[in-house]
Amino acid sequence: MNEPVRVGVVGLGTVGSGVVRLLVGSADHITRHAGRSIVVEKAVVRDLGKPRNLPLAEDRISADIRTISRDESITVAALLVGGLEPARSMAIDLLEHGKDVVTANKALIAEHGPELFDLARRLGRSIAFEAAAAGGIPIVAAIGQCLAANQIESIRGILNGTSNFILSKMEEEGADYAAVLRAAQEAGYAEADPAMDVDGTDAAHKLAILSHLAFGVWVPWADIPRTGIEQIDQGLMAYAAKLGYRIRLVATAARVDGRLAMRVSPALVKVGTPLAETRGAYNAVSIVGDAVGRLFFHGLGAGQMPTASAVVADIIDTVVGRAAITFQATGILDAESPAARIAGVEMPQRHFLRIPVLDRPGVMAEISGILGRHGVSIASLIQHESGTGGPVPLVIMTHHCPPSAVEKALAEIGRSAVVRGGCDCLPVLDDWRPAEPRQEA
Ligand code: NAP
Ligand code: HSE
Repeated sequence: MNEPVRVGVVGLGTVGSGVVRLLVGSADHITRHAGRSIVVEKAVVRDLGKPRNLPLAEDRISADIRTISRDESITVAALLVGGLEPARSMAIDLLEHGKDVVTANKALIAEHGPELFDLARRLGRSIAFEAAAAGGIPIVAAIGQCLAANQIESIRGILNGTSNFILSKMEEEGADYAAVLRAAQEAGYAEADPAMDVDGTDAAHKLAILSHLAFGVWVPWADIPRTGIEQIDQGLMAYAAKLGYRIRLVATAARVDGRLAMRVSPALVKVGTPLAETRGAYNAVSIVGDAVGRLFFHGLGAGQMPTASAVVADIIDTVVGRAAITFQATGILDAESPAARIAGVEMPQRHFLRIPVLDRPGVMAEISGILGRHGVSIASLIQHESGTGGPVPLVIMTHHCPPSAVEKALAEIGRSAVVRGGCDCLPVLDDWRPAEPRQEA
């Protein structure tokens, strides 16, 4: 029997605890897959005083990364600390001291991926990051390996479990936004700073990571236009439902004329389509490849054990040597990358608008006139009587048009004397089609 592989676990929070539990609780099964046993040799935390209740002796836990990085018996480190620092310094320290790194930290990969990947390759080490996008869904392996024969046309998905949990609880139970965000934090879905979950940052991190694998470009995540779910209220959800839609935070990257259109935003998705039926902390990813057509992945995108499942699979891949091969292969992709060009690339879409207007003659003509001047055509509209004489929501569904046309129209509408308050604008994604694979003669 081979010697056991000794692993260091950096961070014993939601994910790190799950990884230790899985490595210990499924040890026999994991040994069969890895060809040798994998033991947690040491762990590192911030606060040694916290009760842990883990199958790991206390004397194996320290607050000093060097207990792992300087231990030559440890060959693989699972870096499960969130944020950029000290995570980046820890990753560098681990790589420079000969460890292969597995991480779930998407902020780190999205922000410092190019630098860390370069360093790892120079040092002959690997970085595996399946858990950094869509939790338990094996989407990194799917795009990076299984779909390698395809030109990927688009990636569209729900990539943040916390915001999906919030939106679906608000919609199904009429739950209050703040209360349901607290529930997501208690369940271990949310980031240490949950603002990143609800403002679209976390989804943008994941979209940047997946786009690197799919399109061979490192798009700076901060350049991805993004809107969060903070402004979504029960009123918007009720109008969406009336029209046959649900609201989801959707991340999209698509090839448009050889460039990339990318966006993270709440969107109306048609009831009955896979994105609309994705509830709770589930994530969903739809990928269109030129040879394979459309694929759809669905599974838990956040939470302890689904994420641990991805981290431990990466540890096994590292132990058997697969991670080193695939990691080198993504380096070839980098070398062939076209420049990332996302600025100004637009995908024409339908839009849902909610405009608070005065209930008086000429309002409809004014609003439709402004939309018309910007080339935005109205598909349908709803306006109820005010009853009180106060402002009323005018709800409009547009035909397909470039987002910039709607933005310009709304800027002008916002200055109109008949408008009282801020306008809401959400893309409408009802173009769910099977996407046939390319037909060869
Ligand atoms: P968490 O519950 O907040 O745990 C973070 C762990 O890191 C804690 O054990 C903490 O120590 C430790 N830590 C923080 N700063 C440290 C420092 N300076 N030195 C040593 N240890 C330090 O976070 P998590 O939810 O497990 O997430 C970990 C990573 O996985 C994040 O990058 C997150 O984005 C990512 N992720 C999370 C999920 C999920 O569902 N939670 C899913 C996918 C990816 P103490 O315990 O002493 O505080
Ligand atoms: N906070 C993240 C989410 C964890 O809710 O999706 C998984 O990456």
